[in-house]
Amino acid sequence: MQDLNKLWKIFNEKFIDTGLVKGAFSAPGRVNLIGEHTDYNEGFVLPIAIGKKIIMLGQLRNDRMVQVFDLGYKAEVKFSLDSLSPSKKDTWANYLMGVMDEIQKAGYPLGGANIIFSSNIPQRAGLSSSAALEVVTALTMAKLNLLEIEPVEMAHLCRRAENNFVGVACGIMDQYVSCLGQKKYALFIDCRSNNYESVPFKNHNYRIVICNSKIQRGLINSEYNKRREQCKKATEFFAHKLGHKIQALRDVTIDEYKKYQRQLPEVIARRARHVISENYRVQIGVQALREGNFSTFGQLMIESHQSLKDDYEVSCEELDLLVDLALKQEGVLGARMTGAGFGGCTVNLIEQNYIDGFKKSTKNEYKKITGIIPDIYVTPPAEGAKVLELR
Ligand code: GLA
Repeated sequence: MQDLNKLWKIFNEKFIDTGLVKGAFSAPGRVNLIGEHTDYNEGFVLPIAIGKKIIMLGQLRNDRMVQVFDLGYKAEVKFSLDSLSPSKKDTWANYLMGVMDEIQKAGYPLGGANIIFSSNIPQRAGLSSSAALEVVTALTMAKLNLLEIEPVEMAHLCRRAENNFVGVACGIMDQYVSCLGQKKYALFIDCRSNNYESVPFKNHNYRIVICNSKIQRGLINSEYNKRREQCKKATEFFAHKLGHKIQALRDVTIDEYKKYQRQLPEVIARRARHVISENYRVQIGVQALREGNFSTFGQLMIESHQSLKDDYEVSCEELDLLVDLALKQEGVLGARMTGAGFGGCTVNLIEQNYIDGFKKSTKNEYKKITGIIPDIYVTPPAEGAKVLELR
């Protein structure tokens, strides 16, 4: 449910008006066009914010209590800002508590709040519903408490919440684009300097299409951490060979990689090759988009998928199937898995006129083989987190 009037009605039924500041806020999910598993290697990414989002309504309270109602799951929690610690029972609330904890740790004073929220971002589908929840919580608490927190700082706060409180060692991409996404632009982020550039995605002939495999693998966190470890090993190896200029895999060139790859354990070499080559693909991809060269961009997406599948090994049968089905169809320029992997979604670049045919045939073919009907969403780059109302 995303209708603001209806949401306010529910809010007013649930809570007694405190007479203090209240407002409505939103933060979007994201899909990454290219640059996968590069953010925690201090590399480059190119995500967009998508049309699916979380809307949060809140009002400040006179005390230090926070009461939250999740409309989707009809779940409710109440906690104090003075004793924030991760909950084993209400794990969803950890995203909110973690953000409030980090805001306070950064030295900003917070008052309690009454909150409800509603989401239409599919969960555990690799579209960053958790980053959206963190970001919308940060924006809600900042605005209700009349704090000025810049979007970049907000993204970092949210990432720290996920790292420290929720316990997931994610990179900065998801929170960053949920805070800073822009309509009609992809966000080219340098995950070392945290500089970003908005790259136009304006061609009316092409669309970004997301296919949800509806596969969710429980392994994501442990495999994700394993990949991070392997990248760390590779970095240490190259730092040993090439000296201190190597702080992360971002610093290794393809020629340097080629020169030393045989000295690395085979698996580590493949992990490093993915990250190093993916960073190049993002940079070439950005240039291609700037020039309106969508066919080059599509080709880079295809190469990215191959690399994630074979070298980084974070794809799965169903994602590979969606990519294969897509690439057999007319009008498809590129297709790849997106996000952490092991299930979730693919992202496709498709000529506008072929989208209806693509949807129909992907649904049929994927269902024939897996028994699952995939969800398919067409999304232009959407805007990042914003205030819908503040009074
Ligand atoms: C998850 C993480 C991101 C990023 C991607 C892989 O979405 O939250 O930080 O590492 O995986 O690119």
